[in-house]
Amino acid sequence: MTQLELTPDQLLTTTRTVRKRLDLSRPVEPELIRECIEIATQAPSGSNSQQWHFMVVTDADKRQGLAELYRKSFSPYRTDSLKGLKKLQETNPEAAAVQERVVSSADYLSEHLHEVPVHVIPCIRGRLEGASLPQQAGSWGSILPSVWNFMLAARARSLGTAWTTLHLIYEKEAAELLGIPYEKFTQTALIPVAYTLGTDFKAGPRKPLDQIIHLNSW
Ligand SMILES: Cc1cc2nc3c(=O)[nH]c(=O)nc-3n(C[C@H](O)[C@H](O)[C@H](O)COP(=O)(O)O)c2cc1C
Repeated sequence: MTQLELTPDQLLTTTRTVRKRLDLSRPVEPELIRECIEIATQAPSGSNSQQWHFMVVTDADKRQGLAELYRKSFSPYRTDSLKGLKKLQETNPEAAAVQERVVSSADYLSEHLHEVPVHVIPCIRGRLEGASLPQQAGSWGSILPSVWNFMLAARARSLGTAWTTLHLIYEKEAAELLGIPYEKFTQTALIPVAYTLGTDFKAGPRKPLDQIIHLNSW
């Protein structure tokens, strides 16, 4: 598989959340997903524990099931987002314009999620409810870097991804659908994966650095 010619900085700054530009009609080769997962596993994990599992869903009925769970969560989330957007329009129209695009894009993904050819659900061993802060940090920190590795590897191969978490409200139902042992493994995200329509992506709008860097004292 030929990879896109991107410098490390280009790869890191142009791996966007892709929703409207997912090619819903083009199948994704299973070997490519395997390659991306292999690269995912080069991420760090606490004590090199590697307690990660990657549930890859290509079955159409199961993707439909996951999309239905996602949409059940999306609906109240959307209502809240629109309320937040209204406030933002009054106080910061520039930020509101960015947020409007996110809402429209998120609407599209929600409507079409079942059509995205591959869904990947990264899981970590253990349940995190009631865990202490260091335990939680250890668990999340031992899975999320691998997920981002996966997304970067996908981008290099002309695949688009989107980090989503909304289906987790119905994590138990998703576990039943996919046979994931719920008591032993926590689902951490649902990453839709498809080829992108075009491969040119830009850096996204971000807060100015001076608002977020604290030198020597907060
Ligand atoms: C922890 C996390 C959860 C997210 N959950 C969702 C989600 O459920 N649905 C969705 O459409 N986007 C979701 N996103 C994507 C964000 O909306 C997106 O990263 C943000 O708008 C910035 O866009 P960019 O990734 O293209 O820079 C999530 C991102 C993160 C990091």
